[in-house]
Amino acid sequence: MDIFDTISARRSIKEFTDREVASEQIERMLSAAVLAPNHRMTQPWRFYVLGPEARAGYGRVLGHRKAKRVEEAAAAAAVIAKVEQSHRDLPAMLAVSVVVDENPEIREEDYAATWMAIQNLSLAAHALGLGTHVKSGAVMDDPGARAAVGVPEGERIVATITLGEPASVPEAKPRRGAAELTTWVS
Ligand SMILES: Cc1cc2nc3c(=O)[nH]c(=O)nc-3n(C[C@H](O)[C@H](O)[C@H](O)COP(=O)(O)O)c2cc1C
Repeated sequence: MDIFDTISARRSIKEFTDREVASEQIERMLSAAVLAPNHRMTQPWRFYVLGPEARAGYGRVLGHRKAKRVEEAAAAAAVIAKVEQSHRDLPAMLAVSVVVDENPEIREEDYAATWMAIQNLSLAAHALGLGTHVKSGAVMDDPGARAAVGVPEGERIVATITLGEPASVPEAKPRRGAAELTTWVS
């Protein structure tokens, strides 16, 4: 598959079929991820392939956070149960963390490199016929989410990636053209 076709056809996939994702496919995606550019070769990325219990645990934490906005106790419990179950039912889910360096310059470079690894992984998934949805947010610093993933001290979760065979593929989102955003400096 041509790289430009892969880049333009990739979407954030929100609905997956029940088909299992083979460990070999995940391993291939991770092998592409670790080829990302990386200043000083710190190789700061770490990957966690979450099984059903870990996914459910992460979903429970996320559900509790969403349920804070729900006043009625039964409705709040239903939100938690729904988010937990939807995570348990996912075909596959990864968490990606970065090793946090003491030096702020290295820390920023390592964070950027980890996102490049995530993009490699997303494009590799697409080339394998799989869809990904990358998510970030405050939940990843929640001690409960960190415990569900099993991330140690000294690492920060930067993204979760849900993964599977797409059940539906959304239309491309409208974007500004590159020419409009580019200045050619002489
Ligand atoms: C750094 C980053 C964080 C994201 N976090 C979320 C998220 O928390 N929730 C979500 O639904 N999508 C998240 N996304 C996915 C974007 O919403 C998505 O990429 C965007 O809508 C464009 O759609 P596309 O990926 O299909 O082109 C994130 C994407 C990036 C790059």
